[in-house]
Amino acid sequence: MSYKTPCYILEEKLLRRNLELISGIARRADVEFILAFKAFALWRTFPIFREYIRSTTASSPYEARLALEEFGQKAHTYSPAYEDGTFDEIMRCSSHITFNSLSQYERFHSRLTARGGISAGLRINPEYSEIETELYNPCAPGSRFGVLADSLQNGLPAGIEGFHCHCHCESGAEALVNTLRQLEKKFGRWLKEIKWLNLGGGHLVTRQGYNIGLLINTLNGLHERYPNLQIILEPGSAFAWQTGPLVASVVDIVENHGIKTAILNVSFTCHMPDCLEMPYRPAVRGAETLGGEEARGHETEADVYRLGGNSCLSGDFMGYWRFGRKLAAGDTVVFEDMIHYTTVKTNMFNGIHHPSLVLQRLDGTYETLRDFSYDDYRNRMD
Ligand SMILES: Cc1ncc(COP(=O)(O)O)c(C=O)c1O
Repeated sequence: MSYKTPCYILEEKLLRRNLELISGIARRADVEFILAFKAFALWRTFPIFREYIRSTTASSPYEARLALEEFGQKAHTYSPAYEDGTFDEIMRCSSHITFNSLSQYERFHSRLTARGGISAGLRINPEYSEIETELYNPCAPGSRFGVLADSLQNGLPAGIEGFHCHCHCESGAEALVNTLRQLEKKFGRWLKEIKWLNLGGGHLVTRQGYNIGLLINTLNGLHERYPNLQIILEPGSAFAWQTGPLVASVVDIVENHGIKTAILNVSFTCHMPDCLEMPYRPAVRGAETLGGEEARGHETEADVYRLGGNSCLSGDFMGYWRFGRKLAAGDTVVFEDMIHYTTVKTNMFNGIHHPSLVLQRLDGTYETLRDFSYDDYRNRMD
């Protein structure tokens, strides 16, 4: 073993497995898959991605710059609202720019026309989504995302070449079928007038059991109905899904009313924020997930533990897991599937040490992409 804990370990073999599956779908359905940086942006791995995909999607000036400077291609950019001061930078770094509202398009389209060479799109809101977690539902009533079909009654503004629609989250192909039905009902008449349709992210094509055949048939059906359309999908999670763990160590074991918590050298709120936000209980290698309230009655058993973060946030813990043995300081705890929506969201709250970023190469060797230090903590707050 040639890494120190804590660290995220991205396994190249698993990443390539996902990339191969995704590029196979792209070929069979004649669509373009692009990588959403909001889920994954470990730029030292971009050379691997470039063997399989051509482009990426950005949602801010920094992500757009990363696309151009590190991925080597201009981004498909969408942001809820562009700002005057950074729109030139957005244009410098983007091949496609999607606007969230008609007022944003009105405000910026003359600058876009003057610059030339950038394809303009509009985010549409089909008012349909099967996402049950409100935090992730872009089509909830009153959502700030996208233009409703009603507001296009007077036609599409001149210069709009594409539509962008994001309303999935870890979804299957069945949700896409239903979404397209709704999208075509509401926006079908304009689909004949435009050049591209970006179906957003949330297509978890690399999850076991995802109905790839249905996805390909659905996309091919869309091509038949609208041969004018170039179809783009921009998932993030699907690329990094199950590509590696976060490896932590036990620092101490505390007990309170029979409940044992293993305090780790990582934190849920700092390093696995979606566990608390989404929320979900991650799989721990070699341990049985018992759950929270569902585990009542088991919590005092000798081999059952909560896992606690090393921050001062009271809620920075999750439980319960059965380890089948007693835990002790120094033991390793491995959280599975911790690559997507982690390193892009982590923070240095409480000055807690940030896990290193490690890439396990195809030959099994470990390459440390980045170690973090006190300077990283200090330099964010000059
Ligand atoms: C506009 C847009 N595109 C793409 C994505 C990526 O989604 P996922 O990582 O679930 O595939 C998101 C996620 O929120 C998004 O908001």
